[in-house]
Amino acid sequence: MRALSSLLLLVAIPAALAVKSHDFKTCSQAGFCRRGRALSARAAAHPQWTSPYSVDADSLSISSDQATFTAGVKSAIYPDIKFGLEVRVHDDGVVRVKMDEVGGLRKRYDEAASWALIAEPKISKDIQWTVGTKDIRAVYGDKKDVEVVVSFEPLTVTLYRNGKEQVVLNGRGLLHLEHFRKKEDAKPEEVTSEEALESEGTQQVLKTPNLHAWFEGEEEDALWEETFSSWTDTKPKGPESLSIDITFPNHGHVYGIPQHASSLDLRTTTGESPYYTDPYRLYNADTFEYLADSTMSLYGSIPVMHAHSADSTVAVFNAVGSETWIDIAHSSVSSTETHWISESGILDVFIMPGPTPKDIFAQYTRLTGTQALPADWSLGYHQCRWNYVSSEDIRAVQKKFDEEDIPVDVFWLDIEYAEEHKYFIWDKKNFPDPVDMTNDVAASSRKMVVIIDPHFKRTSSYPVYQEAVDRGLIVKQKDGQTDYEGWCWSGSSAWVDFFNPAAWDWWKTLFKTYKLGDDKFSWTESTEDVFIWNDMNEPSIFNGPEISMPRDNIHYGGWEHRDLHNINGMLFSNLTSQAITVRGEVPKRPFVLTRAFYAGSQRFGAMWTGDNLGTWEHMAVGIKMVLANSIAGFAFTDVGGFFGNPDPEMLVRWYHVGAFSPFFRAHAHIDTKRREPYLLDEPYKGMVKDILRRRYSMLPIWYTAFREASTTGLPVARPHYVAFPKDEAGFSLDDQYFIGSSGLLVKPVTEKGAKEATVYLPPNELFYDYDSYNLYRSPATGKKITVAAELDQLPLFILGGSILPTRERPRRSSSVMRHDPITLQVALDASSSARGELYLDDGVTFNHQQGQIVWREFSAEKSGKGIKISSRDLTTQHLASAVDSVALTTYDPANAFAQSISSVRVEKIAVLGLGAKPSSVKVVGGKELEWEYSSGVSASGKKEGSSSLLVIKDPAVSVASDWEIVVQA
Ligand code: GLC
Repeated sequence: MRALSSLLLLVAIPAALAVKSHDFKTCSQAGFCRRGRALSARAAAHPQWTSPYSVDADSLSISSDQATFTAGVKSAIYPDIKFGLEVRVHDDGVVRVKMDEVGGLRKRYDEAASWALIAEPKISKDIQWTVGTKDIRAVYGDKKDVEVVVSFEPLTVTLYRNGKEQVVLNGRGLLHLEHFRKKEDAKPEEVTSEEALESEGTQQVLKTPNLHAWFEGEEEDALWEETFSSWTDTKPKGPESLSIDITFPNHGHVYGIPQHASSLDLRTTTGESPYYTDPYRLYNADTFEYLADSTMSLYGSIPVMHAHSADSTVAVFNAVGSETWIDIAHSSVSSTETHWISESGILDVFIMPGPTPKDIFAQYTRLTGTQALPADWSLGYHQCRWNYVSSEDIRAVQKKFDEEDIPVDVFWLDIEYAEEHKYFIWDKKNFPDPVDMTNDVAASSRKMVVIIDPHFKRTSSYPVYQEAVDRGLIVKQKDGQTDYEGWCWSGSSAWVDFFNPAAWDWWKTLFKTYKLGDDKFSWTESTEDVFIWNDMNEPSIFNGPEISMPRDNIHYGGWEHRDLHNINGMLFSNLTSQAITVRGEVPKRPFVLTRAFYAGSQRFGAMWTGDNLGTWEHMAVGIKMVLANSIAGFAFTDVGGFFGNPDPEMLVRWYHVGAFSPFFRAHAHIDTKRREPYLLDEPYKGMVKDILRRRYSMLPIWYTAFREASTTGLPVARPHYVAFPKDEAGFSLDDQYFIGSSGLLVKPVTEKGAKEATVYLPPNELFYDYDSYNLYRSPATGKKITVAAELDQLPLFILGGSILPTRERPRRSSSVMRHDPITLQVALDASSSARGELYLDDGVTFNHQQGQIVWREFSAEKSGKGIKISSRDLTTQHLASAVDSVALTTYDPANAFAQSISSVRVEKIAVLGLGAKPSSVKVVGGKELEWEYSSGVSASGKKEGSSSLLVIKDPAVSVASDWEIVVQA
């Protein structure tokens, strides 16, 4: 073997590797953000500030189904401008608040929600709006404990639970929809308080000769044109920004609004001693070499925020597609003020009432859908780099993995496979036989992922570009006529406008692996074992403002790029995902990795954390980013060091982080040294091999967690506050987390030279160390424990009361494990009970939607002085109770898939924490089993220490059928 290990010695990240901050705007460099923050500053400076927006009660109208009311809204500042408000309550209690300008000079962009939502939400049947003199209100919910109140003057929307304020819109009076105006009458006529206002309170406040100046400021700040660096944004529509304050008066913690390299618990950006000075920014951007602790925008934007307290969880989804900045202030430890400033769009806010994190996930899922159940192989290990340089290179890499017996599922090809970066077109010099190469990979039960970027080289000999031009699908310059041209990997390039429905079917045809009847391009040089990576879809444009597209470019429907920038990348990857789903005769589950994303992207694939650095800081923040993405619906996210050459210690730790991320890919920049696991020296190589094997052994746990995510929205990488919503001590935890509902708690080590790690255990629980079976007990206050964390050790614990299914036979890839036997680890709780789940299906088709599944519940409970361990069909239970949307039309426990795995057995059961040595272990209706017992601490006792262990050898019960095993004392 070529000893490359010496090349893996620590090479420090050169100082030059850091984000080019000057390429990206701060709030003070964005006109509308400046205006928004100035509005907030004026409000804070004015003791009696009040919002000029009020509901015209006379115009109020309630729909015949009672769920929605509409009303006109006036602004005291612009009496001639009309706004419309619509408030509706969905059947799950979500309140949607929409406000738009009515009869304005132009139309505001109002389509963001339509791209994010899976369907028009069902409206409530149990709402009764009561109209009063000062407000309109409705009480609802099973216990009639939720109330939404819309006050007329000023306009505010407040959601209460049990009389306690949960969410308040416009409570600070920062609501502002800058109406469309003409440049020539940019200076408004003076409106005096007497003319504009009737209410006494407001009159007092507004004793000022110039209300416009009072509210909008003295200066006209960048309303009609704006320059940044060498770019000028012509802003032909003038000002149209949108500002709304959202306050959570009884919630001290807010989470979400990914993507930022920052803590999960969002920090203060304003106020006396802000942690950050700039608001959190949402503007999809190619922020390569980004900072490891910043509010800067990254590649994706999901305007969803959870607000949490031990009392309740609520959330908001602000459906806006334009650039958005969010200021956060923790006005006290138990309340949070936020201010959302967007460049354009209507106000369209969904208020999710909770009251638990689980309810929030269900509510958000009903709006934007869940993470699709991924193909099982995509949960295995993915080997990527920029670039594997030839077909022979791919074959050689695969061979090395096999020689070293290291599992891997997927090999990736970055942009260099494509001739002149014309995606789909192979560089035949280095990849003369793409189909044979893919078949060689597939012959070892593995897959390939190949990159398709959205910039198309502008050359008529490139059929993909030419077909797009012929169909008129290219995004236009600001004149709305001329195709836009910019620079990316492929040189002079064009971008297809995926907002144009004419692009949708065309895009799907490109991925067909067979020849189409006409002369149209299809990817005959690929197979159904090739899956897709969509990168640079923010879009990244090397010579564009902020490395992206000019905001005044024009999309389908005449919308400016600024209106839909954050949604743009989602359409590209979503359509690719649909294209590869239907490319063959039988639809198969797609795999598409996307870099840019928006609310709803989770339905179609995975994302990753982009061009980070191979540093300890980036490794650590990657975990926080995965958690933040996962609470905004994205279960499928990865980590990995892109730039630089991590030393072996860092690589081993990073493999631990990756192995405990929902999506596990190693990737590296073109200038880095090769770092495939087999290149490491011992002991590092062995360590990484063990980590990879552990990931593979746990695939049943991951797949089961994905089933849950795909039906309930509950995240696979689950933050502490979601798992233990009442445990205040854990509300800011973001360096340890749980895997689905399995009970596995992991704390990856992200510090150089660490020998031990501190882990927080929530109150009144038992935890077992996954490797040593040491049992820990946490008191009512919770507790921190310090455990050994040498380089080959990962702090990993099983929550008492859990049963984990694993597959312990080392294999070369996940697909060949499908018929491997299962091991169960039963970790008893203090009452000697435990439960766990296992979900299995064929892993690749959509037959699971027709009930071709095995979904089992394993449980352990006291039985006499011993325990009984049993397996039951969970689908039948759920269908009966309708707890979970299993989305099945038909289900038969003896379905064809279940029959196909009827010979798959449980080969071992390890029971932790049993009270005493059993006298017998028997399958009910069967024989006495072989077992071994070693004494130790029992779950029902008071002690900590090495737990007792009962190993039941080969009970040979089937994973697909009901059984009971009795362990007699
Ligand atoms: C971008 C991607 C990176 C990829 C490179 C070349 O920088 O973020 O992952 O390797 O482009 O395609």
